[in-house]
Amino acid sequence: MLLCTLWVLFHLLDFYTVSGASCGCSSLVIPVHVDVLVPKDPTDKFAGLKSNASSLRRIDDTYDIFGVFCRPDAVSLAGASVVQLLVHGFTYTNQYWSPPVEEFRNYSYAAFSCERGLPSLAVDWLGVGLSTRPKNSSDVQYPTAAAAVSQVALHLKTASIVPGVLPFKKVIGIGHSAGSGLLNFNAIVDGPQSIFDGLILTGSLSVPPDTVPSLSILTPAQDDTPLRWGTLDPGYVTTSNRSIFYPADTTAFSPRMMEFDNFTKDVGTVATFEQTPITSLTAQYTGPVVKIVGSEDQLFCAADRCVNITELTALERVGWPAAQSFEVVVEQGNGHDMNLDFAAQGPFNTFVNFVDQFSNL
Ligand SMILES: *[C@@H]1O[C@H](CO)[C@@H](O)[C@H](O)[C@H]1NC(C)=O
Ligand SMILES: *[C@@H]1O[C@H](CO)[C@@H](O)[C@H](O)[C@H]1NC(C)=O
Ligand SMILES: *[C@@H]1O[C@H](CO)[C@@H](O)[C@H](O)[C@H]1NC(C)=O
Ligand SMILES: *[C@@H]1O[C@H](CO)[C@@H](O)[C@H](O)[C@H]1NC(C)=O
Ligand SMILES: *[C@@H]1O[C@H](CO)[C@@H](O)[C@H](O)[C@H]1NC(C)=O
Ligand SMILES: *[C@@H]1O[C@H](CO)[C@@H](O)[C@H](O)[C@H]1NC(C)=O
Repeated sequence: MLLCTLWVLFHLLDFYTVSGASCGCSSLVIPVHVDVLVPKDPTDKFAGLKSNASSLRRIDDTYDIFGVFCRPDAVSLAGASVVQLLVHGFTYTNQYWSPPVEEFRNYSYAAFSCERGLPSLAVDWLGVGLSTRPKNSSDVQYPTAAAAVSQVALHLKTASIVPGVLPFKKVIGIGHSAGSGLLNFNAIVDGPQSIFDGLILTGSLSVPPDTVPSLSILTPAQDDTPLRWGTLDPGYVTTSNRSIFYPADTTAFSPRMMEFDNFTKDVGTVATFEQTPITSLTAQYTGPVVKIVGSEDQLFCAADRCVNITELTALERVGWPAAQSFEVVVEQGNGHDMNLDFAAQGPFNTFVNFVDQFSNL
């Protein structure tokens, strides 16, 4: 019961989060229409991108996407022309961008960027948090989840997100881990027609499929936390031990962050986990791209993979031949969840610098 109560509390806090004196946040729901083809086999590694028509099925549906919109109130809203669309990783929610515990204020990128004049919208993935959770987990695949996010980006450019805020001219996508994979998927599918004016892909590299962590770190959500997830189909999964998301050096992050993480974790689907190899495909995206990883990322930077940045950049650039610019940044000392370490301010400064740079192109 305690767990349930805490979970509700953390979610309620979202609605009242005010990140510092000069910023205000509000929660909202954006209905989106998605009409895409997904592989009939949800464990298809390339999410249908390499499949023939007979192995695909159509999903034509409408979903509610939940988000927390933060804006600087000192800034003339009519003049705010750029918005950041923040997309969390696997088994996280929008709270990754703003852990709503006061002493964790230093870990809120939504607050950090807002205080520097940048509005943001942090969404929950389809199937996750307070967004629509399809009854059948195999409806939550990269094509559906990514299309929902690109519809949200379109909404930000064409409609008023909250009263008094005009549509934005530019949307910069910032992803973390599977959220970067989701933005990568859109970049592959939409290429030069992409709605995004720049991509900041954190905690994600184009690892060959054989180095992707095995399914064994997953537990069906219904077994992990029956009170919350007992009715979900077994394709909705979570992870019970989250230490791999942090640096191996346990002095690099707060033990309380790990507790908070454990209480606020959410679900993902077997499909999106299995479809990680899409990040090894080529995107004909023409906007600017940066990939940012933590040097202590236990998923992507093991075996000295992130030591020689020249070499790493050359490897990663292959997937982005048409990008206006392409860079790789390695944040020293940060783990996979670079936003949640003591050293979070390092990546935060990097993100803001890239948003400014990309906005002025
Ligand atoms: C389509 O792909 C499936 C699965 O990979 C395969 O079994 C089938 O033979 C293919 N059909 C055609 C017409 O190529
Ligand atoms: C938050 O960060 C600021 C500077 O970045 C630092 O002075 C302060 O001590 C930090 N607060 C906590 C609670 O860690
Ligand atoms: C989910 O949908 C797929 C595709 O339509 C179907 O094959 C599968 O049986 C469904 N699973 C459940 C649990 O309904
Ligand atoms: C979690 O996994 C790590 C290895 O990745 C291990 O060292 C640690 O003991 C595990 N923690 C728990 C609570 O099982
Ligand atoms: C996570 O929370 C659950 C439920 O309160 C608890 O049983 C478990 O020990 C916690 N795990 C860690 C690693 O703190
Ligand atoms: C990094 O990799 C590049 C390209 O493979 C190589 O030329 C260079 O010598 C390497 N630098 C170091 C310090 O190992």
